[in-house]
Amino acid sequence: MTALATELAATMRTPLLETRGLSKHYALQRSTRAWLRREPGEVLRAVDDVSLAVLPGRTLGVVGETGSGKSTLGRLVLRLERPSAGQVLLDGQDVASGGGAMSHRLRRDVQVVLQDPYTSLNPHETVGGALAEVLKVTGSVPAAGRPARVAELLDQVGFPSGWAGRKPGQLSGGGRQRVSIARALAVGPRLLVADEPVSALDVSVQAQVLNLFQRLQSELGLAYLFITHDLAVLERIADDVAVLYLGKVVEQGPAEALFASPAHPYTQALLAAAPKLGRRRSTTSAVAGELPNPITPPSGCTFHPRCPAAMAVCREVVPLTTTTATGQRVACHLYPGSTPGTEPPVRPPSTPASGAAAVSHPAPSPGGTR
Ligand SMILES: Nc1ncnc2c1ncn2[C@@H]1O[C@H](COP(=O)(O)OP(=O)(O)OP(=O)(O)O)[C@@H](O)[C@H]1O
Ligand code: SF4
Ligand SMILES: [Mg+2]
Repeated sequence: MTALATELAATMRTPLLETRGLSKHYALQRSTRAWLRREPGEVLRAVDDVSLAVLPGRTLGVVGETGSGKSTLGRLVLRLERPSAGQVLLDGQDVASGGGAMSHRLRRDVQVVLQDPYTSLNPHETVGGALAEVLKVTGSVPAAGRPARVAELLDQVGFPSGWAGRKPGQLSGGGRQRVSIARALAVGPRLLVADEPVSALDVSVQAQVLNLFQRLQSELGLAYLFITHDLAVLERIADDVAVLYLGKVVEQGPAEALFASPAHPYTQALLAAAPKLGRRRSTTSAVAGELPNPITPPSGCTFHPRCPAAMAVCREVVPLTTTTATGQRVACHLYPGSTPGTEPPVRPPSTPASGAAAVSHPAPSPGGTR
């Protein structure tokens, strides 16, 4: 390999965005009674010790049931919330300790696309006017160049140029989402945090908007942190997937390996319940059993009350994260290395970390000992 090729390969591996041990714990207000009794306040661990990486030009999908911490994670990455612990790094630099210049870079490089663009679009403003306003406010394009840039943005999201004079109320849900994507693109970001960007759309429109995300990625080299409750959406769009349960990552790895051989019983349950794209069904209630109260999560593995493979150890001991033979990082006592005191499996040198190897994880038995 030439020196340039080596350097390029190294650059490709440096995450554009990384979270290290990122946590958001909300201290809840104490009741008067608790206050009078001087009882400690309750804490909700919305995001708990999450370490993830998004590589340039790639899509990291984040999936989990409602309340698993997906949007909180997105807000932490965007610095809309302060973390309780941990770091967010952009190009390897901690955004919290980078001062004003770093905040500016984060605002330029990382933009957001939300589920419901209607709430963030001014109903009285035309599409072209809204985009021109972003260009003006951010100072990214001088006045003379704005009409051309607006036309370019609309073209990029497949919006007929004649529609620049339309207002949000005159557009379909898919049209409005295209406008919000164009608005996110206006400052030339490298990463989009997309929080349930297709969840409110009809299934046929979902496919069109996902196609648009894919086309923009290949044309502009964008990276995505793509948040959804729908694994079928991630099967279509993600390169890597992280599965959140009660604020913690229970499994993460290359999408191909994770969909071919999901390791964690929670991922398996989500996948078993996930519809194929085009047949809508929410994972909100797809997994058997109630989502526990996040303020008083179960002991040991927090999934144990709902897990068909739960063992005695699961109620007592928090599983550590280990790597499976197929390349996923998983926190589950079914895997050697997850129970403190056990050895992680030795990966044969030829086994690719991308997870293309054959399935060799232990399958949880539905009648596991409880
Ligand atoms: N400001 C806050 N104060 C206290 N608790 C909060 C706050 N924001 C979020 N939470 C709690 O944090 C947990 C994670 O919420 P979050 O909105 O991140 O979940 P989510 O995975 O995005 O859910 P959904 O799929 O419904 O959008 C939930 O239990 C939620 O009630
Ligand atoms: S087997 Fe145990 S550790 Fe693994 S998911 Fe089930 S309850 Fe959790
Ligand atoms: Mg959310």
